[in-house]
Amino acid sequence: MANPTSSGRIVIEIDPEQKRELYSALALSGSTLKDWFIKSAAEYCAERRQLSLFNHNSSDTGAQYEAAPDLEQIPRRGSHLLDRMPQLSLKKSLTVVSMFSGCGGMDLGFTGGFEFMGRSYPQLPFSIIWSNDNNKAACKTYTHNLGHDIACGDVWDFIDKLPGEADVLVGGFPCQDISINGKRAGINGPRTGLYRAMVEGVKRTRPKVFVAENVKGLLIGDNREALAQVLSDFGSLGYAVGYKLYRVADYGVPQMRERVIIVGTSSEVNPFTPPEPERSSSEWITAEEAIGDLETVQENRDLNHIWSRANPSPEQGNRRLTAARPSHTIRAECHGNIQFHYSLPRRISMREAARIQSFPDSFIFQSGLRETERQVGNAVPPVFAWHVACSVLRCFQRSPRKHVAQTDQPLNNSFDGIQS
Ligand SMILES: C[S@@+](CC[C@H](N)C(=O)[O-])C[C@H]1O[C@@H](n2cnc3c(N)ncnc32)[C@H](O)[C@@H]1O
Repeated sequence: MANPTSSGRIVIEIDPEQKRELYSALALSGSTLKDWFIKSAAEYCAERRQLSLFNHNSSDTGAQYEAAPDLEQIPRRGSHLLDRMPQLSLKKSLTVVSMFSGCGGMDLGFTGGFEFMGRSYPQLPFSIIWSNDNNKAACKTYTHNLGHDIACGDVWDFIDKLPGEADVLVGGFPCQDISINGKRAGINGPRTGLYRAMVEGVKRTRPKVFVAENVKGLLIGDNREALAQVLSDFGSLGYAVGYKLYRVADYGVPQMRERVIIVGTSSEVNPFTPPEPERSSSEWITAEEAIGDLETVQENRDLNHIWSRANPSPEQGNRRLTAARPSHTIRAECHGNIQFHYSLPRRISMREAARIQSFPDSFIFQSGLRETERQVGNAVPPVFAWHVACSVLRCFQRSPRKHVAQTDQPLNNSFDGIQS
C-alpha cells in the first residue's frame, strides 16, 4: 500500500519475502529503488493508456497480461526501455513523412505509446504528418489504429502532394521483386522499382534522416548490385547512407525475421548509430510465450483471431512453429499457407501472427483473412521499429561529440556498410 504524504515521502509495505526478491532483483539491475520506482510508474501510466483488449476480457480468454509492472519487469542493467530513449527536451515533435505505410507497423513504432507482452514502449516525439499506401484494406486498418488519415492510392499519383519538408522520412518500399520468395525481377521490377518514388520523396521533402526497410535478399547475389544502386541514388542527394541487417528477435520480437534497414542522415544531424540488440539467443521470446494464452480462445473475428483452413502445401508455409523458439518469419504473400500452430491442429490465427509481429492486441486489422495476412506479413514489427526510432531520435540530440563519448562506440562502425 503506498501513501502519498505531504513531505514527498512514499511508504510502501510489502511482505519480507517480496522485499528480499525486490532487493536482489535491484542488485542485479544495478538500479536504485527510487530510480526503478520512478521509471516503473512512468511505464505503468503509459500502459494504462494502452491496455490490451485481451486484458479487458481476461476472464474469457485466459489472457496472462497484467496491468501493473511485476517483479519480472524490473529492468536489467542496460535493457530498460526508458534508458533506451534519448532524453531530448524538444519544444515540438519531429515531423515524419511515411511512404509505403501499409497497415502502419513502422509508423506505430515511431510514434510509440503502446504495450506488447506486458512491456510498454513509451511515446516518442515523432508526429506523422503524411502517409500513403495503395492498398485500400491496409489504409482502412491504418486510419483505424493510427488515428489519422492516410493518402490512399498509387504513390506516383500523390508525389506532388508530399509536404515540402519533414524531419524524417520512413518507408518500406515493396520487396516482392527482391524477396527470395518472389520472382526476383530485381531493382527494375515493377514493385521494387518503386524505391525510386522514395528517392523522389527524399528529394522533395529534404528530411534530416530517412529510413528505408527491405528484405535480407537485398544483400544476396545479384541483388547486391541493386543495393549499390539504391545506396548510390540516395547518396547522390547529399546524404551519408548506411545499411545493416537486423534479426528482430534480438529486439524483443518473437520471430526470426531478418530485415535490412537503410538509413541516410544529412549533415545537419548526428550520424546514425544502429540500436544495440537487447536480447541474446537464450533470451529470445518464444512462440509459446507470445501466443500460449490464446490456445484456448475461440475464433473471434472482432479480435482478428481467425485462421486459414488451407490444406498443407508442398511449398512454403507448411512449417509448424516450435513452442520453445521464436517463430519463423511471418510472410505477406502466403495465400493462406501461414505456419501451423506448435501444438494445435490448425494454422496460426491472424491475432497470433500479429503477436508474433509484435503488434499490441489493441491494434485491430480492419480486413478479412487474406488482406490481414498481407498487412501483418508486410509490416515492420512495431517493437523493432520503436528501437530504430530511438536511434533516429539520437540523430537529433544536441552536442554530437558528447553522444560519441556516451555510447563508447565509434559511430557507423556497426553499420554493415556506409557511403557518403
Ligand atoms: C513492405 S510493405 C510496407 C509495410 C509498412 N512499412 C508497415 O510497417 O506496415 C510495402 C507497402 O507498399 C504498398 N505499395 C505497393 N505498391 C504501391 C504503390 N504503387 N503506391 C503506394 N503503395 C504501394 C503495399 O500496399 C504495401 O503495403
